[in-house]
Amino acid sequence: MNRLHGLLGLGWTLGISALAEVPVIPRPTKVEEKAGTWQITEGAKVRIGNQPESAVILDLLSKASGRKLEAAKEGEAASVVFSLGKPAVEDGPGAYKLQITEKGALLSAGTGEGLFNAAQTLAQLLEASPNAVPAVSISDSPRFAWRGYMLDESRHFSGETAVKRLLDAMAHYKLNRLHWHLTDSSGWRIEIKKYPKLTSIGGRGNETDRSDNAPVQFYTQEEIKRIVAYAAARHITIIPEIDMPGHADAAVLAFPEHDGGGMIQKGDPKKWPNFTFNPAKPETLAFLDDILKEVAPLFPNAGMIHFGGDEVNFGWKKWPELPDVQSLMKKENLKDLPAIETWFNRRMAGTINGLGLKTGGWDEIAERDLPKDKTVVFWWRHDKPGILRKALDDGYPVVLCPRRPLYFDFLQDPSHKAGRNWGGINPLADVYDFPAGLKLSEKDEKQVLGLQACLWTETCLTQARRDFLTWPRLVAVAESGWTAPNRKDFASFEARLKLQLTWLKSHGIASWDPFAKSPEVSDQGAAVDYPDKPE
Ligand code: ACM
Repeated sequence: MNRLHGLLGLGWTLGISALAEVPVIPRPTKVEEKAGTWQITEGAKVRIGNQPESAVILDLLSKASGRKLEAAKEGEAASVVFSLGKPAVEDGPGAYKLQITEKGALLSAGTGEGLFNAAQTLAQLLEASPNAVPAVSISDSPRFAWRGYMLDESRHFSGETAVKRLLDAMAHYKLNRLHWHLTDSSGWRIEIKKYPKLTSIGGRGNETDRSDNAPVQFYTQEEIKRIVAYAAARHITIIPEIDMPGHADAAVLAFPEHDGGGMIQKGDPKKWPNFTFNPAKPETLAFLDDILKEVAPLFPNAGMIHFGGDEVNFGWKKWPELPDVQSLMKKENLKDLPAIETWFNRRMAGTINGLGLKTGGWDEIAERDLPKDKTVVFWWRHDKPGILRKALDDGYPVVLCPRRPLYFDFLQDPSHKAGRNWGGINPLADVYDFPAGLKLSEKDEKQVLGLQACLWTETCLTQARRDFLTWPRLVAVAESGWTAPNRKDFASFEARLKLQLTWLKSHGIASWDPFAKSPEVSDQGAAVDYPDKPE
């Protein structure tokens, strides 16, 4: 059917003795190889049941096998059978079992999510060896429930086609959370019908082009709904981020009345003059409430709105001069700037919680006195392990996404030039090892929801560069998030990764090739004036 099969088919046949394992990423929990092989035929019948994502699964397996497969009718024999309701293993909704015999494949799980994961494993086996899949019995379940990726749309915009391609690739590796950073100082990227200027003015330009005739780029609500549904059919939850009270320049450009003052970025005195929202003005709070209320229903399965909360102290110097802040301080007996920030956080988290949602926020919020059962902390400051410790000790659920090694705007190879190097870079091996260095206790591990990589796009003018920085490191995140520590092995991962570089390429994704050391995609000419964020 395509180039992939020639390469991968040979890969597994040859590779099986070298790999001594099935060519699947993330590496499954338990694999028993059996005698014999199964050949899937053109028109083979697949019994999927009435999952909402049946069409997605049928298409996935047809493409993976290079054959047009058909849904089995009631009572018709099928060679691929999905069985819901027989949990393969007790632990976790993502768990599944896959048995391949000479006659066909049986995929069983207690949830639709588990079945979808089983389908992805089967797809990888078919891609590797479409003409003779070795018989095997796999029992598998994830280490962490949250296996994610954050995409910054503000600095440079990706668009619907690229995001859908990303979602397909995430699903291929059983990644299940897309944290969508939709607003920041460089551009507001989500349509808010009550405030069209947010996008018509705030959506103009990006990190590289701030001119008056720069294009306006944002997602309409219709596009957002389509993308969220596309993700849901692939068992990926999209969590929107509306950053506040900092990173507000784009919104304040459209609505100057909500300005709370700016900050001077190291190395660039022009950035960012309107970095914060006014944290105390009643009209500003009502404006932010309106936005959150419009955002919530666009993400019906998110269970959360991420409200940023990061780096506020870089831009709060003007706050004490604002009359609304002065009267709030008096009224609420607020003594200092952190107290104002805490008051603002609690106020906006109240709106989010009132919508029946949890509040997500960057790790600064661990010091902002938010309700533990309604708040998720995203630990990003790798150089502040004490904040992670505090968040865990205080009982917050935590997503791990430390700059090192999980920020993908850091260099991935010492030979590369464009990107961050803050006392170190983020090579594939470090991404793969994570989170071993944290030495999470059993108790910690229960509170850690999981991990995610973050792509900040200051230096990404093109999709080619976004792909270059993301892949193959995101494949390593998938295995780190899924596979138990005693099953992780970097040499084995690298061996299996080679096949996946071919898969990524055949799906239009321009991964960096760490084996061939393919050339750097630097987008030179882009804003590479690091550091972009003051410390
Ligand atoms: C962040 O990198 N400011 C979360």
